[in-house]
Parts: sequence; structure tokens; C-alpha cells
Amino acid sequence: MNVFSIENMNLWYGESHALKDINLDIEEKSITALIGPSGCGKSTFIKSLNRMNDLIPNVKIEGNIKYKGHDIYSPDVDVNELRREIGMVFQKPNPFPMSIYDNVAYGPRTHGIRSKAMLDEIVEKSLQNAAIWDEVKDRLKKSALGLSGGQQQRLCIARALAVEPRVLLMDEPTSALDPISTAKVEELAVELKNNYSIIMVTHNMQQAARISDYTAFFFLGELIEMSNTDLLFSKPSDKRTEDYITGRFG
Ligand SMILES: Nc1ncnc2c1ncn2[C@@H]1O[C@H](COP(=O)(O)OP(=O)(O)OP(=O)(O)O)[C@@H](O)[C@H]1O
Ligand SMILES: [Mg+2]
Repeated sequence: MNVFSIENMNLWYGESHALKDINLDIEEKSITALIGPSGCGKSTFIKSLNRMNDLIPNVKIEGNIKYKGHDIYSPDVDVNELRREIGMVFQKPNPFPMSIYDNVAYGPRTHGIRSKAMLDEIVEKSLQNAAIWDEVKDRLKKSALGLSGGQQQRLCIARALAVEPRVLLMDEPTSALDPISTAKVEELAVELKNNYSIIMVTHNMQQAARISDYTAFFFLGELIEMSNTDLLFSKPSDKRTEDYITGRFG
């Protein structure tokens, strides 16, 4: 089953044509890695999938982005609900300046959950699923800003999980992390794919090769190729992909 189906998608920032005729399908309950040199449109693409680009003036999008068969730009789509189902984790951990508990409870509260027992349960479950519960269970009322960068990133993943999304978009989630925290986030992603569809931008080719099922290579606003990760890294079909993955440019 495809969670996303993208057809003939084009995106402009003003006059600048940032994504050119993108066609791709994303399979549910898998990890799809997006790779490519800086400025090729990876973040632009991933942000289109939950309409984060709506917040930027002068963006024009054409073509079709279907989430579970439904056009996400159709007028009947509730953008808040869409963003609840399609959560996002950014490159730099961005916890809110409040307690660890309140960071995770924030989303459920905005969706109307008031019961303390229910919030307690969601907070614990989300922190457990983000593999950080043991590290923070005795300091839930302390500020999230007192956590290390790697812990903050896992907290942000817990915050994203707390509203029960179906998809997690991750834009270079480990680029600010040390190797140990990176390994934890990678393990977590692999575990989460049993229940979630994960789309992850990464500059780290080993990371893409290690954890993703599918890899898409972007170059200058185009999707050059997408295939099974093993195949893309062992037998790229396009010269530009080969040059990139062997480090000849980018
Ligand atoms: N808000 C914006 N307004 C105008 N142009 C933008 C905006 N955001 C991105 N761009 C341009 O769109 C192109 C793609 O940028 P994008 O951030 O998607 O690249 P990227 O592949 O994520 O790069 P990186 O690996 O450096 O994060 C670039 O030329 C960039 O300058
Ligand atoms: Mg980017």
C-alpha cells in the first residue's frame, strides 16, 4: 500500500522553480530516505507532504500529492488534522521552553484531552516509544531545555508521536547528534516503521544504506531515481546518482 502518491509535482518559490515534475510513491510502514546535495529540494519536498510550505509566502505548487488516495490540497482537507497524522521532526531539536511532560502533553491538550490520567498515559507511552523514558522518568517536571541535544531530539520524536500520527517526516534528524545519539535515533526509526511510515532526509549515505528500505536521489530540483536502497547503492541507474553516492560531488 502506498501512503503517498505524488504525480507531476512542481513547486516554485516566486520565480524560482525548486521542484520539477516529481513523480513518486511512498510505501507505508517503511523507511524512505531522501538524499542529494545541498539545495536540491529535499526539505522543500518533505515540507510539502504535510503542507508546511503553506506558511511560506509566494509558494506555488502544481500537480498532485495524494495521502492515502486523497489530494492533500483539496479544499475539504483540514490542515490541522493533516499535520496531526503527518508529524515532523526537524534538523535541530526544538523542544518548547517548558517541562518535559508539558512538551509531550502539548499536542494532545490542543486536541482537547484534559484528563490527567489519560495525559499521564500518553506521555509515558510516547516517551517509551521514543526510547527516552528511562532517562527522563524522574525529571518529567524539569525543563526540556536541560536535556542533552540527543535527548532533546528523542523528546521531539516523543512529542510528534503523542498525537498518534501515521507518518513521520524527519529532516536530517541526526545531523546535530553525536554517534551514540545518532545510533539511538536510527534504532528508533527502524522500530517505529512497524507502525509508522517514515520519510527521512539525510546527508549521511551510510545512514540511508543502514536503515532505509527505499532511497530517492534528488538533484537540482529533480528526482533522478528512486529504488530499493540496496539496489540504488549497488547499481544506480543514473550516472549522477553514481557520482553522488561515490562522493564525486555534493
Ligand atoms: N523559503 C524559501 N524561499 C525561497 N527559496 C527557498 C526557500 N526555501 C528554500 N528555497 C530554495 O529552494 C531550493 C531548495 O532548497 P531546500 O531547502 O529544499 O534544499 P535541501 O535539499 O533541503 O538542502 P540542504 O541539504 O542544504 O538542507 C534552494 O535553492 C533554496 O534556496
Ligand atoms: Mg534541507
